[in-house]
Amino acid sequence: MTAPPPLPLSRRSLVAGAAALSAAPSPGMAEEAPATSAVSLLVNGEAHSLDLDPRTTLLDALREHLRLTGSKKGCDHGQCGACTVMVNGTRIYSCLTLAVMHEGDAVTTIEGLGTPDRLHPLQAAFVRHDGYQCGYCTPGQICASVAMLEEIRAGIPSHVTAELEAPPALTAEEIRERMSGNICRCGAYANILDAITEVAGTPA
Ligand code: FES
Ligand code: FES
Repeated sequence: MTAPPPLPLSRRSLVAGAAALSAAPSPGMAEEAPATSAVSLLVNGEAHSLDLDPRTTLLDALREHLRLTGSKKGCDHGQCGACTVMVNGTRIYSCLTLAVMHEGDAVTTIEGLGTPDRLHPLQAAFVRHDGYQCGYCTPGQICASVAMLEEIRAGIPSHVTAELEAPPALTAEEIRERMSGNICRCGAYANILDAITEVAGTPA
């Protein structure tokens, strides 16, 4: 039996050639810049024009592009509520929506509710009642609380509202149910409820 003829390429030159090929840009794609979309947002009363990758979530637009890092990324999957902001007065999870879907919308984040010198009543109540431990969920809790109290005032029923025709009562059960989309890993729920109840003006 005769030996096979020698390979025309050494293993080393074959590997080097393959690496060079994979690093080369594909024909027709070499100079293409990533597509971006223009979006205008009114954030905490200030107009912003952004040019974003259309896949950018509202949360990332706020945190990474506008440097408003008060809204937190807990799960990035709509499970924790840490990213809650208000859009045109309605609370939403900003991780679950794309920024480009909010052209012209008014967004309120925790930074827009109050300042260290002039806290929003709910911010002040959270401080008074120790409504946090690590504080990571707190911006979302407070934004959700502000919108939630408005929902009750507007007469919007929840899953636990007994009388759909009557205005919802400001009970602890109503508040707990309506805040159930905001998770606190530190378990500060009792104090959060106290803070909200004080601002809502009814006993828990
Ligand atoms: S980060 Fe949006 S719900 Fe958790
Ligand atoms: S205060 Fe730590 S997660 Fe709520």
